[in-house]
Amino acid sequence: MQPVATIEEALLTRHSCRAFLSRPVSREQVERLLELAARSASNSNSQPWQVHVLTGAAKRTLTEELLCAHEIRRGDEPGEFDYQPRPDGWPEPFRSRRRRFGESLYQGALGLAAEDTEGRRRQHRRNYDFFGAPVAIILTVSSDPLQGALVDAGLFLQALMLAARGDGLHTCPQASLIDFHQVLRRHLTIPDTHVIVCGVALGYADELHPVSAHHTTREPVESFATFYS
Ligand SMILES: Cc1cc2nc3c(=O)[nH]c(=O)nc-3n(C[C@H](O)[C@H](O)[C@H](O)COP(=O)(O)O)c2cc1C
Repeated sequence: MQPVATIEEALLTRHSCRAFLSRPVSREQVERLLELAARSASNSNSQPWQVHVLTGAAKRTLTEELLCAHEIRRGDEPGEFDYQPRPDGWPEPFRSRRRRFGESLYQGALGLAAEDTEGRRRQHRRNYDFFGAPVAIILTVSSDPLQGALVDAGLFLQALMLAARGDGLHTCPQASLIDFHQVLRRHLTIPDTHVIVCGVALGYADELHPVSAHHTTREPVESFATFYS
């Protein structure tokens, strides 16, 4: 896919990419994207974010250990989180939106039957090789104070994903990485004062993969905006 030229195009073409080509992304390119993402606003310009960028052997080694940890757990233990990215039980209307998202991804794009838990598990495992992306990024923020820093981290994350579109690259934000935050901490130099926010897969999309046809919808503006005049 061609690089996008406008912010509107970047917003409209960004989506969570779950199949990447092995085509490499240069360190200079990644540094430039990070430089752009760091232009994000942050509370009092505190810039509480840090990133850990893995490619090549470093990414492969991390992936091996993450897959191993995932295999041992087989999903029957509760995750351990640096912060709580999702509730144990989603209230409405989020529960229904989440169900629709899951159906359109697993049953729709991937053709997995609703009862195919093994197929879903296999797909979930792909998070841990960053869906084949050549670049894996782990985003952390200072935990002191945490709540404001998480807002700043969200801005950084979105800016990074949009900047990637400017280079014809795609991304997938991945909270699933923090299910194995201890593995990440063993591999990376993450200060105790930082929490792991999420991973980000970065690379060129494999447009021919069936999952690349998956696109999500949004609620209309009138469902979330209240205008006063
Ligand atoms: C903080 C955050 C964490 C996410 N974690 C994952 C993840 O672990 N694995 C995944 O496949 N998608 C993950 N997603 C992607 C969401 O499922 C996706 O953004 C949502 O369904 C909307 O689709 P879109 O990004 O394609 O527009 C995450 C998104 C965000 C913002």
